[in-house]
Amino acid sequence: MYCVREITEDLYWIGGNDRRLALFENIHPIPSGVSYNSYLLLDDKTVLFDTVDWSICRQFLENINAVLGKRPLDYMVINHVEPDHAACIEEIILRYPEAKIICTEKASLFMHQFGFHIDDKTIVVKEGDKMSFGKHEVVFVSAPMVHWPEAMVTYDITSGTLFSADAFGSFGSLDGKLFNDEVNYDRNWIEDARRYYTNIVGKYGPHVQSLLKKAGGLDIKLICPLHGLVWRNDFGYLLDKYDRWSRYEPEEKGVMIVYGTMYGNTEAVANDLATRLVKKGLKNVVMYDVSSTHVSYLISETFKYSHIVLACVTYNLNIYPPMHNYLMDMKALNLQKRTFGLIENGSWAPQSGRLIREHLEGMKEMTILDNSMTLNSAMKENDSDSLEDLASSLIESLN
Ligand code: FEO
Repeated sequence: MYCVREITEDLYWIGGNDRRLALFENIHPIPSGVSYNSYLLLDDKTVLFDTVDWSICRQFLENINAVLGKRPLDYMVINHVEPDHAACIEEIILRYPEAKIICTEKASLFMHQFGFHIDDKTIVVKEGDKMSFGKHEVVFVSAPMVHWPEAMVTYDITSGTLFSADAFGSFGSLDGKLFNDEVNYDRNWIEDARRYYTNIVGKYGPHVQSLLKKAGGLDIKLICPLHGLVWRNDFGYLLDKYDRWSRYEPEEKGVMIVYGTMYGNTEAVANDLATRLVKKGLKNVVMYDVSSTHVSYLISETFKYSHIVLACVTYNLNIYPPMHNYLMDMKALNLQKRTFGLIENGSWAPQSGRLIREHLEGMKEMTILDNSMTLNSAMKENDSDSLEDLASSLIESLN
C-alpha cells in the first residue's frame, strides 16, 4: 500500500522510513530510524528527484506508481549517488525505461562504478545549467563534498524549492509528519540533526559554507532534503545551526567532561570536577563515559560545547583505546576551535595527558589550558588544589 504526502499541488514526497536499521553506514546507531526522501514533480514532464535505499524500495515503487498513475516517468534528477539514495536507480530504469537521468559528470562516473547499466540514459549537467519541465524551471548547483564529490542540489526557480541532497538532513524517521512546523524541532529533532550533520558532513565545513553562500542568493520557500523533515518556514533557525556547525563554532558555552575509566577512579575525579564547576555557578556541565557512549554522540556533543575536559587513564603506556578512538574521530572530522582541560591517570607511568595533548596540538585552533592534572591511581586529599585550579581555569576561560 502506498504512503505519500502532497507538498504542493504538483510536488509529492514519495520516500519512506527504515526503523529496523541499527547502524547508519554500518557505524552510527539510529535508535529513531531514518527516512529516505524522494520527491516526484508532476509538470508537463514528470520528474523524480533521487531514489531511496534498497531497504524501502518496495514501498518506494508503490508510491511512485500511486502518484504517477498512468503517466510515464520522463526524468530522474540524481543529486547524490551514495547508495542510501541511489540504490533503486536501476530498478526505476527497468520499470520506466524511457526515463532519462539528469546528473553531474562525476555522478555518472560513480553510477558506472557501482555497476549501474545506464549508458544512454544520462543527461550530464553542470553548475548553473537550467532545464524546464513545463511550468517549472530548475537550475543545477554543484555541491561538492556535501557530502560526496559528485553531489549537486537542484533549485526549482518557479516554486522556490531547494532539493538539497544531504544538506539540512537528519537522522530520525518521520512518524507521519513531514514538515518542520508539524514537530517541536528544538525538543525532538535537533539532537538527531546535529549528530547526523557532525558525523556525516562535519568534516566538510568549508564546502558547506560555500553551499550556504550560494543558497543565500536564492529565494527559498521549501527545503527538501534526502533525510528528515521538509522545511517550509523558520529557515533562519536551520541556517544558523548549519552556519555554526560548518564554521566549527560552538553552540553553547559549557563544559563537556569525557572520562575514560577502568575501575572508577578517573570517573571519581571527573565527578569531583563537575561538582566544583556547578558549585562555582556553572550549570551547563555534561559528563560522558567514553567507553559506554557511542563516539557519534560524543562528536555531536563536542560540536555543541565550547569547553571539553578529557580525563583518561593510561593504558599499555598509551591513551585508553576508546578515548583514542574519540580523538581520532575528532581529528578526522576536522573539529577545531575548542578549549580543553586534561586529567591523566596512571599507576606507574601516567602519560595519557601528554599523548592527548600531542593529538590536540595537531588539530586546528585548539586551546589547552595550562592547569592540567596528573593522578597516581586515585585522587587523594593533596590532589584537591590541582583540581580546584583546573576548575577555576575553566570558569575563567568561559567568562
Ligand atoms: Fe544520505 Fe551522503 O547520503
